Amino acid sequence: MMSGARGGENQNSNAGAGAVSELRASLINGLPLTGGDKQKFGELNALRNEAALRGEPVLREQSFNELMRVISVKRPQKILEVGSNEGLTSAAMLISLSGARLTAIEIDEDKVMRARKNLERFGVIGRARILCADAKDVLFAITGGYDFIFLDGPKGQYYGYLPDLLRLLKRGGTLFADNVLFRGYVTGAVKTPHRFITAKNSLKNFLSVLTESEGLKTRVLDFEDGVSITEKLY
Ligand SMILES: C[S@@+](CC[C@H](N)C(=O)[O-])C[C@H]1O[C@@H](n2cnc3c(N)ncnc32)[C@H](O)[C@@H]1O
Repeated sequence: MMSGARGGENQNSNAGAGAVSELRASLINGLPLTGGDKQKFGELNALRNEAALRGEPVLREQSFNELMRVISVKRPQKILEVGSNEGLTSAAMLISLSGARLTAIEIDEDKVMRARKNLERFGVIGRARILCADAKDVLFAITGGYDFIFLDGPKGQYYGYLPDLLRLLKRGGTLFADNVLFRGYVTGAVKTPHRFITAKNSLKNFLSVLTESEGLKTRVLDFEDGVSITEKLY
């Protein structure tokens, strides 16, 4: 589903009124949550709906559910998120994984402030580090291994980020990327407007590396804006 398309390189998820009804139904069943955590997820969904109404590019419902499903199966302890917006997916991951730690990169100062507030509200700020920066300026300097990377930043940069993301991903780790089919442009299902050709080509290159490299196993899910899930085998 590619509805509610939004312009702009940084706006890479759907939102607006259409997305609100989708988000309202976000899945929490199936996650190993305590009663308190379920209440937090209720609050979190309300915040996601409210952010979507303000036009914030929050992760759409099916993609959010898939993120939570993969998180609950893999149970990563060290997470990197590129593009945290107001910290709502950061908070969701930390609420559902007690003990996990997260580093997030977000370019917009105002969103970083909101993210910190949200993480504090959900009692997970102590396990989070939000870097206010352009990902391209900090990714190369990050060291250590991550067992889960959630890539939800500027689509045109995904291919450029890939060497660092693969360096940072531990063996056995998972790279989960949103917007990889970019409104159908990447598959050719929808004709790419001229201004998005560079971003589309970058995503094509990104997916080629992920699907064709030895040592990586990738599934591409063709719903909403397209999600790829890559396991680093070795
Ligand atoms: C789709 S939103 C992230 C949504 C968030 N994961 C969620 O679902 O709540 C993408 C975010 O990436 C941020 N962003 C865009 N360009 C960036 C860059 N070069 N470096 C870091 N963050 C960037 C935007 O400001 C925006 O908040």
